[in-house]
Amino acid sequence: MSSSASVANENGVAVVTIDNPPVNALSFHVRKPLYEALVALRDDPAVSAIVIACAGRTFVAGADITEFGKPVEQPELRAIVALLETIAKPTVAAIHGTALGGGLELALGCHFRVADQDAKLGLPEVKLGLLPGGGGTVRLPRLVGAAKALGMIVSGTPISAGEAEAAGLVDAVLDGDLLAEAIRFASEMAISGGPFIAVRDRNDRLAETDLAAFDVHAADLARKARGLEAPIACAGAARNAITLPFDEALAAERRLFLKLVAGDQSRAQRYLFFAEREAAKVPGRDLHKRKIARVGVIGAGTMGGGIAMAFANGGFPVTLLETSAEALQRGLATIEKNYAVSVSRGSLSEEAKQQRLGLFKGSIDYADLAECDLIIEAVFEDMAVKKDVFGKLDAVAKPGAILATNTSYLDVNEIAASISRPQDMLGMHFFSPANVMKLLEIVRAEKTAPDVLATVVDLARRIGKAAVVVGVCHGFVGNRMLSARGAENEFLLLEGATPSKIDKAFTDFGWPMGPFQMGDLAGLDIGWRNRKARGQTAVIADTLCEQGRFGQKTGRGWYRYESGSREPVADPEVEALILAKAAEQDVEARAIGAEEIIERTLYPLVNEGARILAEGIAARASDIDVVWANGYGFPVGKGGPMFWAGLDGAARIVERLEYWHRQTGRAIFEPAPLLRRFAEKGNWEGVVGRPA
Ligand code: 3HC
Ligand code: NAI
Repeated sequence: MSSSASVANENGVAVVTIDNPPVNALSFHVRKPLYEALVALRDDPAVSAIVIACAGRTFVAGADITEFGKPVEQPELRAIVALLETIAKPTVAAIHGTALGGGLELALGCHFRVADQDAKLGLPEVKLGLLPGGGGTVRLPRLVGAAKALGMIVSGTPISAGEAEAAGLVDAVLDGDLLAEAIRFASEMAISGGPFIAVRDRNDRLAETDLAAFDVHAADLARKARGLEAPIACAGAARNAITLPFDEALAAERRLFLKLVAGDQSRAQRYLFFAEREAAKVPGRDLHKRKIARVGVIGAGTMGGGIAMAFANGGFPVTLLETSAEALQRGLATIEKNYAVSVSRGSLSEEAKQQRLGLFKGSIDYADLAECDLIIEAVFEDMAVKKDVFGKLDAVAKPGAILATNTSYLDVNEIAASISRPQDMLGMHFFSPANVMKLLEIVRAEKTAPDVLATVVDLARRIGKAAVVVGVCHGFVGNRMLSARGAENEFLLLEGATPSKIDKAFTDFGWPMGPFQMGDLAGLDIGWRNRKARGQTAVIADTLCEQGRFGQKTGRGWYRYESGSREPVADPEVEALILAKAAEQDVEARAIGAEEIIERTLYPLVNEGARILAEGIAARASDIDVVWANGYGFPVGKGGPMFWAGLDGAARIVERLEYWHRQTGRAIFEPAPLLRRFAEKGNWEGVVGRPA
């Protein structure tokens, strides 16, 4: 038998151990021996009970995602689960680490599930644009009830062993040696004589379902799906579990799964899953990492506070430095308030809040940073201020400490050149709110040492960030491409579009919000200040700011906001202003459709991405997609701008960019040579770096 699934007999209890590092995915070379072992054990009179367990760091974390889109090799997971349900003796899944997707579905084929304290259980298929395809949508509701199952399947968020036990998914949370305890549990069950009822035959919880309430909840989730097919299919499959006989619901789940797995959205989401992991593979990643025990953060404003929370949430003690006791108190109070909000929403316990707050040490003395192994600066966006801060850091930081700046735009090489240890310095560009947003652009400066880079990439994963290494340029990858995306906005308005029309084209595309809603949320004054600093103007946006219309914070911006509401309402005053500016510039209004809006905003976005690749600011097309999916809300079902360029047709994008270039003469539309090469080849393979 292959070593991927082996069998041992422990006093009549058969232990089937799956061993397929790193996460025990259910690859063909696991499924085949597993199936064969279970057939043999079912009929073996010397076996009174069966335990399925896993070697290594986790229980089965799902189907093997790399096999999707290829011909299916038998036996499939569904056949293994069905086989399990024909076994009369007690079957027990012993869960440690994560039982996810197909892993949980395998466990649902057993009569019992036992877990250790730290185990997590879930059906995250939706995050890959799928639904559970191994019977999860039909079996999970039978154990935890339809409402709970709906939430788990549509969100994809795993639950803890304790929560799983309370919900009826896990029969026992065991202390001590999990395998030994699971064997004991299985043996006791065998002695008890049963009855051992397969999950497929347990209908009591389903019978309790309030179908009307279920439908209300499902409709609400569908509204939030923003064009993604998988969440809706998940909800539909969970509903089938209530309304259809078991086998029909199972067959329907299969049909839905096959449709999703063959579709572009799931392909895009699976691509993003691997792209995120690929992004962490940087040259030098095997180098010895520097030890990071305490983190320092300078500036307790919007970003500094969020960055400090991100590290405290990851268990790191943090020294937070401000210019004055008042500013420090303000920053710490905001942090405490943010944690209190999490407690009131039920996403954080009071105990965890206290524990995290206990990790903060406030200071107004740079000398206190001497004990930090990593120090991140998040002060005002001003080169002179930054250099002053780094000069002080240079004097106090311990040798080998990593020094980072959270600058959005400033030249990290210039800051590094101003200190005596440029090899220890890089950019760590977090996104707001930094304790929530997953993206971290790690800016490699000219002299950044390879082990510094490797240490920070590793650390980013430890605090749950999707890290992408980028080079130095104005705005790095994300903000530089954002400027390209927004370059035509004012022209579009002057030519006849409205903020609502443009925003709608974006939300119809799948973005969570359009550029004008985004501007109002972030504050229009930020861009206004930046433009002034760079000697730039924007006729309409500047006028709005001159009128004190800064967005949501002043109740008026591109839209109006009723007091206390975040709902944007189209404002006739803004539309009149746009018309007046168009008249001043002699621009004739015409109808502008969604297609034109996409061409003039998202095609330049792709074009700028290709320039960034050509310059080596990003190493791979897929790195750019990780930035956009995790930092800017690019619809995951389209995979990110560079992946989407392939879906939409790079040749067509080049053709339309050429058209707009002829029409406007603006450089933003001049197709990048790399994009032309992509269009000729039809994919990024061999065009640059590693394939997208
Ligand atoms: N299939 C194939 N490869 C997988 C995989 C899977 N299900 N899960 C993880 N891997 C690979 C990763 O690509 C990575 O490879 P690399 O080292 O070459 O980059 C390696 O395993 C380790 O993964 P992580 O770096 O993510 O390890 P972590 O320890 O940080 O996280 C994890 C572990 C929480 C299990 C995380 O890997 C994860 O969330 N995996 C995906 C879980 C999932 O989505 N399961 C459902 C799959 S779909 C399914 O089951 C369909 C079924 O219903 C029919
Ligand atoms: P902020 O104005 O909210 O906070 C800056 C804080 O730094 C203030 O609390 C100020 O008292 C403190 N400070 C100023 N000089 C200091 C010094 N010498 N020593 C210690 N503290 C000092 O600004 P914000 O938004 O947090 O921005 C900080 C940095 O993060 C800037 O470089 C900005 O470009 C960058 N950034 C901002 C993002 C955002 O969305 N706000 C996103 C990503 C990066």
